[in-house]
Amino acid sequence: MNARKITDWVYALHADITNAPYFEGFWPIPQGVSLNSYIVRGNKTALIDLYRDWEDAPSQMDSQLSSLGIKNTDIDYIILNHLESDHTGFLRDFRKTCPNAQIITTAKGAALVRNFCKAFPEGEDQDAVRAVKTGDTLDLGDGVVLSFTETPNVHWPETMMTFEQKSGVLFSCDAFGSYGAVGTDENPERIFDDECTKEEHEHFESESLRYYANIVASFSSFVKSAIEKFAQTPIKVIAPSHGLVWRKNPAEIINRYLKYASYNAGGSCEKEVCVIWGSMYGNTKIGVDAVVEGIKSKGLPVRVLEIPSTDASVVLAHAFSAAALVIAMPTYEYKMFPPMAYILNLFNRKHFTGKKALRIGSWGWVGGAKKEYDEAVTPLKWDEVESYEWQGLPSEDDLKVLRERGITLAQKVLA
Ligand code: FEO
Repeated sequence: MNARKITDWVYALHADITNAPYFEGFWPIPQGVSLNSYIVRGNKTALIDLYRDWEDAPSQMDSQLSSLGIKNTDIDYIILNHLESDHTGFLRDFRKTCPNAQIITTAKGAALVRNFCKAFPEGEDQDAVRAVKTGDTLDLGDGVVLSFTETPNVHWPETMMTFEQKSGVLFSCDAFGSYGAVGTDENPERIFDDECTKEEHEHFESESLRYYANIVASFSSFVKSAIEKFAQTPIKVIAPSHGLVWRKNPAEIINRYLKYASYNAGGSCEKEVCVIWGSMYGNTKIGVDAVVEGIKSKGLPVRVLEIPSTDASVVLAHAFSAAALVIAMPTYEYKMFPPMAYILNLFNRKHFTGKKALRIGSWGWVGGAKKEYDEAVTPLKWDEVESYEWQGLPSEDDLKVLRERGITLAQKVLA
């Protein structure tokens, strides 16, 4: 496979990971994920962001470097915008093939190169890492200059972005990324936004939201401030380390990330309701249908997700963007239905605060979900409609109340 030209001096390399079940060990990637790296050449050569030894990523990258006539020993600098292992897992082995290359990263990144990546045998080559800060530049010669901007906590504390001034390419690493392999069977080299159909863009939009909700959502305030740092930067291309390279319409992915960040803390969420439900024998599901009927009667869009058959990764994406949630589950052994306990645990970890919400559910011979639920959602500061529980099969009176609760929740969203 060949590297793809962005300009005469900037090239994109990528490996599509298509058979691995999970990203970060537990987020499903049925459509794969790409690991993108970049070559920038002046008189000196820089490799921006690396990869891990995952499927055939090392050999894919090797063949793309060869397509540019670059040997590893030709690489003068390895720029590490972010040290998580999907970008650095191969660093230790790769560095052995280019022992004179200088590693450039932030001060916190430099510590991780040594202590997390164990990139050097102890006591050796400690001077081969250069720590940079915002405003520092690296002149590669021939008018090609890289500048560095620290963007902490997007999504690790050491993260930075690299901008190449002559081409206007911003190498943003995880920011502006997405799940989804970028190549296709017909065109494994595909990587640019203008090489995708409308339907393929819809797919990547869905996968970028899921990626954001899973990986970045907790750090939305840092995403906003990172984007603000580039407000005056003449960006022509967004080159992330996962997903498409945006050369035709970089504003699309920037605005998409700004929109996602605005969902944080119940900010500018979509005026829709995400109903998350689990049911042991169908009694809670009957109640869900009544609530949905009430919400729809007010003209509000509703997305209904059953758990655990809907993966938590997908639930997070839709719950993050929705202004309101319905949490529907039976009591299970005096407590919450266990799959819902997991979902609410994730909501807390990801700080899904500020939602409007309604909890409903059935119970068998005793209730008890309420206590555990209240403990779980108190830190989230949700604006809740009065919850409703019933024993076993809901009666007509129960269903009437449930429809009314749905209407009340919809009115809160529409207010
Ligand atoms: Fe793509 Fe946070 O690593």
